[in-house]
Amino acid sequence: MAKRIFQKPRGTKDIWGDDQKYFKYVRDIFENVAEEAGFLKIDTPAIEDTKLFVRGVGKETDIVSKEMYTFNRSGNSLTLRPEGTAPIVRAYLEDGMQSLPQPVSLYYFSNFFRYERPQAGRYREFWQFGLEVLGDKSPLVDANVIATASRIYKKLNIKDISIQVNSMGCPTCRPKYMKLLKKFYSGKVTKLCADCKKRYKTNPLRLLDCKNEKCLALQNEAPQIINNLCSACHDHFKTVLEYVDELDILYELNPKVVRGFDYYTGTVFEIWNASDGAQNSLGGGGRYDELIQTLGGPSIPAMGFGGGVERTIEEMKKEELNLDFPKNVNIFVAQLGSKARKKCFKLLNDLLDAGIGAEARFDKGGIGDQLKTASKLGVEYTLLIGQREAFDGTVIIKDMASGNQEVFPYEKVIKVISKRLNKNS
Ligand code: HAM
Repeated sequence: MAKRIFQKPRGTKDIWGDDQKYFKYVRDIFENVAEEAGFLKIDTPAIEDTKLFVRGVGKETDIVSKEMYTFNRSGNSLTLRPEGTAPIVRAYLEDGMQSLPQPVSLYYFSNFFRYERPQAGRYREFWQFGLEVLGDKSPLVDANVIATASRIYKKLNIKDISIQVNSMGCPTCRPKYMKLLKKFYSGKVTKLCADCKKRYKTNPLRLLDCKNEKCLALQNEAPQIINNLCSACHDHFKTVLEYVDELDILYELNPKVVRGFDYYTGTVFEIWNASDGAQNSLGGGGRYDELIQTLGGPSIPAMGFGGGVERTIEEMKKEELNLDFPKNVNIFVAQLGSKARKKCFKLLNDLLDAGIGAEARFDKGGIGDQLKTASKLGVEYTLLIGQREAFDGTVIIKDMASGNQEVFPYEKVIKVISKRLNKNS
């Protein structure tokens, strides 16, 4: 019977080769942008108390009602984090960050888990880069988070993006708007898709971002929250937009951006690929001024953003950005004969000790094979030790581009090579 090899769970992936390079590239740029803006890194556990998400994100949201990986251990219900904001609020409260100077600005680069139907750009385990600013209600914070998010994509050289902005109101104006919305849809429920029939009862705001053809026409006629904000929300949002305008960041006002979680209040925004639109948004965020209180803390305002790493990378590939991934290995060490092999083993380690990236293949005997490997690796130089060099205490430096070979005493090789590599870099 043929042996069966194991497969990764559906909707997950192995990240290696070029994908790993893209991941590192995105991560480095994101972390630079965040740190330069004064954000501090935080890692929280991949598992949390299930109630954190039920209460924080909302029982009726798709994530909590359908998509969580939940399990029981010793009578505790734990969940693999489906998102990062509720865990950050938990850490802010539990770790006493309220006593730090406010606001507290945190960033993360973490994996998340949602039991969604896998398709292009939608995974069951995926990565996000995220920003959260806790403890400041100023509209300037909203504008700054939008600006920081936009800067990430700009530094990644992604061109084809559009920023969609909306306000979702507050506990004063949203209930009134919800009544209006329900009234508008009340005689029209039969015209809605099956999901929206349920949403009408459980989560009417989501009627506005359904992508089903049947529901689109009604969405355009539905009352818009932006015209029904209380004066405080209206003024706050107006000021946010004025600040964003000040930075010449282009955005679109979009009343259909209502986000999928219950914790949002006031300003919300999404980053879309301009050609794809709402399908597979690159990132999203907004204010969550009620969440800290919902999770047992005092009334503290906050604002944040989460960007999807895989979708960002897919966009970079689509736009065929010319990325200059740093090359870590530029030297191959080749040997002929058993005495030379020992010397090469030492040379390889001397190079690595000196901080010069180098590789060798000690299982390959023939010099031809080894040079072929060196070409495949695309190194700039191959250092060769044959029987004669092993005897003389010398090393041949072969320039792979020109084919030129020069002989140097072993003791000088590291110095010569580092000089040449520095000159070429
Ligand atoms: P979200 O809109 O659910 O927001 O996720 C943010 C981004 O994560 C999405 O725009 C998308 O790029 C990516 N994403 C979400 N689900 C998947 C998936 N199944 N596969 C691949 N990528 C995915 C949040 O999670 C909020 N916590 C963001 C936030 C931070 N709001 C305030 N602070």
